[in-house]
Amino acid sequence: MIQLHSIKNLIDNILPDIVNLRHSIHENPELALHETDTAALIRRTLEPTALRLLDPFLGTDVVGLLDGRGEGRNVTLRADIDALPLEEKTGLPYQSKRDGLMHACGHDGHTAMLVGAALVLGELSRELDGSVRFVFQPGEEVAAAGRDLVEKGVLVDPVPDAIFALHAWSGMAVGAIASRPGVIMAAADFFHLRILGKGGHASMPEAAIDPILTGARVVEALQSIVARRVSALEPVVVSVCHIEAGTNSNIIPDSLEMEGTVRYVNPAIAKKIPAEMERIVKGVCDAAGASYEFGYVEKYMPTINDESIVALGKRVVQRSLGPERWVDLDKPSMGAEDFAFYIRERPGAMFRLGMGEGTVPVHNPHFDFNDDALEAGIVFLVSAALEVLREQGAILK
Ligand code: NI
Repeated sequence: MIQLHSIKNLIDNILPDIVNLRHSIHENPELALHETDTAALIRRTLEPTALRLLDPFLGTDVVGLLDGRGEGRNVTLRADIDALPLEEKTGLPYQSKRDGLMHACGHDGHTAMLVGAALVLGELSRELDGSVRFVFQPGEEVAAAGRDLVEKGVLVDPVPDAIFALHAWSGMAVGAIASRPGVIMAAADFFHLRILGKGGHASMPEAAIDPILTGARVVEALQSIVARRVSALEPVVVSVCHIEAGTNSNIIPDSLEMEGTVRYVNPAIAKKIPAEMERIVKGVCDAAGASYEFGYVEKYMPTINDESIVALGKRVVQRSLGPERWVDLDKPSMGAEDFAFYIRERPGAMFRLGMGEGTVPVHNPHFDFNDDALEAGIVFLVSAALEVLREQGAILK
């Protein structure tokens, strides 16, 4: 039986290296699906361990398997490794060295914690029954590469009995861990609309078909989906985030482009929203005499946590970190996560890791993953993995 204090000793030994690793990943952020240096650094760090590193599935992914002494379950731990197109403004000594790129979503911390868990569990491999898979996933942001990784078979051999992921969370006590059964993150779909009017002189709009006025009406009318087409008890967000049209103050342009995102938590309404959107777009454009091209992509499905895995995670936190560290979430976030595609296949859950009360939110140029949360995150990942491998019977579905 592996004792909690021996896990904590192993973590204490590696923690300074993990902090340094986090800082060097932070200094060298890479955009989704371009994480070559990050992947190389992870491979270099894990090469001397007992992990079997697999050939990449997508290119910049790193997947390692740790086999125990005997047959048993598989537990899969996943971290995302990509950064964001954002100019860092933290002024930290390890601030991004790459212009316009920054680790503003804590994926540097996720990666460092998973490396930490791999180092610790690697030391314990002779005492484990079963196996642990470590997935360092590229392209979480916008690309949703988790879906491709799962489609390429990352979860096939062996099939996991439980999958875990941790995500940095601002405004929550440092090192606290939170989750909920069922939906924890929303779906994120994306749309693109081109309105085709007819250009002309600004002083003679009667001879033109104004795509800007038509576009303004579309933006306004789309909000009636949230207000009038879905139940008030159903969380939905429709946001137009980018509009482009025109060149000058006295020319009505030919066309207008807009794009945006739709968020919801109930998969049953996935098809309803694009149909409602197109009905509105068509109606408004018809009334103006304009035509349109409408594109809609279902990108991220809702992240739906398995109840028994959340219960296991809660038990692990209360026992290994203390009851005060656990937080029961009462509602999901309208943000999205491609971890959804892993736990659509097999039981799993996403957990949030507190960055501290009053901390800057993620995707902000002042955000930095809190190093003081690294230890709790590693304790959680290691203890959750051990708990799954140790459990007998049908506690897991
Ligand atoms: Ni993220």
